[in-house]
Amino acid sequence: MIKKGIILAGGMGTRMSPLTKAVNKQLLPIHDKPLIFYPLSILMLAKIKDILIIVNKGQLEQYKKLLPNGKRLGIKINYIEQDKPRGLPDAFKLGENFIKKEGVAMILGDNFFYGQSLSKMLFECVKLKSGAKIILHKVAHPEKFGIATVKGKKILSLNEKPKNSKSNLAITGLYFFDNNVVKYAKKLKPSKRNELEIVDLLNEYKKQRNLSSEFVGRGGAWLDTGSIEDFYKTSNFVSSIENLQGFKIACLEEISFKNKWINKKTIYEAIKFYGNCEYSSYLKKIIS
Ligand code: TTP
Repeated sequence: MIKKGIILAGGMGTRMSPLTKAVNKQLLPIHDKPLIFYPLSILMLAKIKDILIIVNKGQLEQYKKLLPNGKRLGIKINYIEQDKPRGLPDAFKLGENFIKKEGVAMILGDNFFYGQSLSKMLFECVKLKSGAKIILHKVAHPEKFGIATVKGKKILSLNEKPKNSKSNLAITGLYFFDNNVVKYAKKLKPSKRNELEIVDLLNEYKKQRNLSSEFVGRGGAWLDTGSIEDFYKTSNFVSSIENLQGFKIACLEEISFKNKWINKKTIYEAIKFYGNCEYSSYLKKIIS
């Protein structure tokens, strides 16, 4: 069982400048909560309690104001600063002492997932004993994404932004790895754009015939919030669902309470922490 998870929440956020000049992208609002709540909720839905958040140098204090050490959420949050964006696999080099001898999940801080069968899919993923697993989702424009071709759940090929792809399965920013990930990440060489590439890391697993996949599925949504347009699309999506259905997406205390990691008393403490706001009113509803 995979019990540890990393959220990669640094990066320059160049595409969203000037919004990201003073504030990290993952602390900006997606409807009623900071973006970081959404990837964190995914790890919590996967029943992962031991979490490492990788942040930019100089931004640790902002993150700690929002999500101190995780105790209030019944989880443990550690932080590491990344001095500059060296690419996604850098997470496993920075996180070596956190990962130790175990497998690990990684989610990009700007990825949003939603769907009815998500918890079931996550439950399958954390069962991973050896190899790596990636999460795929059908997209309308394969030329904009990293694309996988598959046979069943086995990965046949990985292609970065292919022009005329037969497959439309995009590689999302949620991955599950066995402990070899640290060893493989250390072997990687930077690409032409001077970053370590996640595709090179996944290809290492593919060479060992140990790379498989799960699917978000047709009833689910995956949104990458990297550009301003996608950011607001995601925000509108959350706002529509929450207003229509009356429940919140990525209410961290609700997930923790349902996982039986925290009790009513801890939720009262959270209400005090957030103060008089709509999010607190929702928390009151959960425990009433
Ligand atoms: P990207 O979207 O590749 O980068 P970014 O968020 O800095 O945006 P831009 O391209 O506009 O400059 O990163 C995906 C996610 O991974 C995002 O949440 C930031 C995070 N990230 C890091 O924390 N460290 C890194 O070295 C990289 C490459 C990304």
